[in-house]
Amino acid sequence: MSRRIHPAVVGAQPFQLTARETFDGPIFETEEGRRRLEAALSRYPTKQAALLPMLGFVQSVKGWIEPEDMVEVAEALDLTPAYVHSVATFYTMYNKHPVGRHFVQVCTNISCHLNRAEEVLRSFLAETGTREGETSEDGEFTVIEAECLGACGFATVVQVNDRYLENVTPDGVPEIVAKLRGARDGAAAGGPAAEGDA
Ligand code: FES
Repeated sequence: MSRRIHPAVVGAQPFQLTARETFDGPIFETEEGRRRLEAALSRYPTKQAALLPMLGFVQSVKGWIEPEDMVEVAEALDLTPAYVHSVATFYTMYNKHPVGRHFVQVCTNISCHLNRAEEVLRSFLAETGTREGETSEDGEFTVIEAECLGACGFATVVQVNDRYLENVTPDGVPEIVAKLRGARDGAAAGGPAAEGDA
């Protein structure tokens, strides 16, 4: 029986080594970074209110948020690094360690549990050749168990990056993984979700 790792501690696993993007300089000095920052600031009454969107932006381009990014976000929003760190570490949706290009979260809560979620999870681990929370050698996949993803009527639910796959069965996992292997970016990674997006 494979060793199980609770999702809450996955971020602490030392074998997650894959970074998606590197930047020569500060992220908010890139054209896209400046544009996203200005857009967020124009939408909210205070700079502080733009914190979650900016953390989301960093993660969308890098796949995770490292301490240096938190400092940069803090400077951009006139916040303290400690405050940004406290927010980033409060939400499990922000990855504090690198994950694979396809970050696969399999819900095993009650509805999904009753619809073979454990088998779905095992199938993802077998197809990607990883242990739970581990990133595959090619950097493509990190698979973890997740708490309720809020789409209980479509169990089993699997989240791949920011896309949902619904009604996933163990038998359907090989095809999903094969399609993801063929995808080259986050948008393409959502391909298999097209039939069952939430
Ligand atoms: Fe799986 Fe709610 S129990 S989405």
